Amino acid sequence: MIKRKRITKAVFPVAGLGTRFLPATKVIPKEMLPVVDRPLIQYAMEEAREAGITDFIFVTNNTNRPLLERYFGDNESLNATLSRGGKIAELKLVSETVVDPRNLHFCIQEQPLGLGHAVWCAYEFVAGEPFAVILPDDLIQAKPGCLTQMLDVWCERGGNVVAVEDVPRDRTNRYGILDVVSDDGRIASARGLVEKPAPKDAPSTLSIIGRYILDEAVFDHLNKSMAGAGGEIQLTDAISATIGTGKGQVPFHGLRFDGTRFDCGSMTGFVEANVALALASSEYKEYLRERLKRHL
Ligand code: UTP
Repeated sequence: MIKRKRITKAVFPVAGLGTRFLPATKVIPKEMLPVVDRPLIQYAMEEAREAGITDFIFVTNNTNRPLLERYFGDNESLNATLSRGGKIAELKLVSETVVDPRNLHFCIQEQPLGLGHAVWCAYEFVAGEPFAVILPDDLIQAKPGCLTQMLDVWCERGGNVVAVEDVPRDRTNRYGILDVVSDDGRIASARGLVEKPAPKDAPSTLSIIGRYILDEAVFDHLNKSMAGAGGEIQLTDAISATIGTGKGQVPFHGLRFDGTRFDCGSMTGFVEANVALALASSEYKEYLRERLKRHL
């Protein structure tokens, strides 16, 4: 087996407008919305840390950057108040959010020009090596974490690795879909990707979700898309252009990860995540059971 370098950098694109969560996102960035007991960004961060990521690159805007810095920074006055009040458990929760500022990096995406553009904004921090991309609005319940599972596949096969899910054929027009060459039921190899194909044109029903391990070759194609930029710059198109065996091309694998993904970018997925995570805690289970009994 080829010995690969570790992947230590993850990009978190969080510069979108989150219009589906208005009015909350008028003042609270989507990644700060809590699911049960912690904000979406915290789940993403925990998954990244578990996978061995040490450098965290946020693509954000000027308004939200200070909030992220505060969330991952140390808050001495809060620590002192909690200590004085003997709130040890709370102190621990707060300390778990802190990241060494030397490992936090911020890039500003002036306008939300699409996910491809957001990743392109992180170029200076990840150039020259493979890196991970995590969309915090996809909350994934998995053990080991989804990114850890993907890194195992990447260590074996290299190239680009993305997390995938089967979707009903009538919904392919909402996702990036794989053009599959071979599929063993867990890992699918693809020769290309199609962004939001109509159900009749979709080459498969395997859709990409918000976890990627990308080869730096993707930047060559993002650069080209930037040159001809008009509308949104799609990440899937740039990744698709890197797939192959030619110069500057790499293999592409989709992993059906073991776990459950909640699309917290949509209100339905957000509510589902809250219910599922609340049910996983004995604290809320009884209440939910009673409540459901009354409604059914
Ligand atoms: P979405 O496609 O969910 O877009 O982005 P959005 O703007 O956040 O939400 P809606 O559709 O208006 O409700 C998926 C992820 O990509 C980031 C978002 O912040 C989110 O984490 N993103 C999207 C960017 O960072 N920049 C962009 O230009 C677009």
